[in-house]
Amino acid sequence: MAIREIVVFPDDRLRGKCTEVTEFNDELKTLVEDMFETMYDDNGIGLAAPQVAVKKRLVVMDVPKDDSDVQGLNKLVLINPKIINKEGSCESEEGCLSVPEYRATVDRFEKVSIQYFDENGVEHTLDADGLLAICIQHELDHLDGKLFIDYLSPLKQSMLLKKYKKLKPKN
Ligand code: NI
Repeated sequence: MAIREIVVFPDDRLRGKCTEVTEFNDELKTLVEDMFETMYDDNGIGLAAPQVAVKKRLVVMDVPKDDSDVQGLNKLVLINPKIINKEGSCESEEGCLSVPEYRATVDRFEKVSIQYFDENGVEHTLDADGLLAICIQHELDHLDGKLFIDYLSPLKQSMLLKKYKKLKPKN
């Protein structure tokens, strides 16, 4: 297992659509393990493959159901996930490991149902609400090159772009 480098906004590798996973092999399992380790190292509850510079439709999550849940209890691996149903709306305050030290409130669906494969290639469906539903929507957006800050006003977005360009100059 290894901690991988997290790609930080405004890096282009966070943009564009990721491709479907077609092979459920050892390389995929290593990537999944590395992603969990990288996510836990940064105290995240979700991480999408493009955030470690892999343009594949793969997400790892560990969303606590309540305060007593310990790390590792709610591990989820979502491969080629698809939202098959969405209901209601809510506001959620979000952050992202690829946009460090920034939080903002965005609109999300309140409940989502998804279809996905696990790392062994077994298909599942999941009905989610609360924080899990929000995390799913946030992470699935990453697979299409979308960040939560894309939902903000153009003014806020241009301010963030300036700020993050200064923090991490592109070479
Ligand atoms: Ni994110």
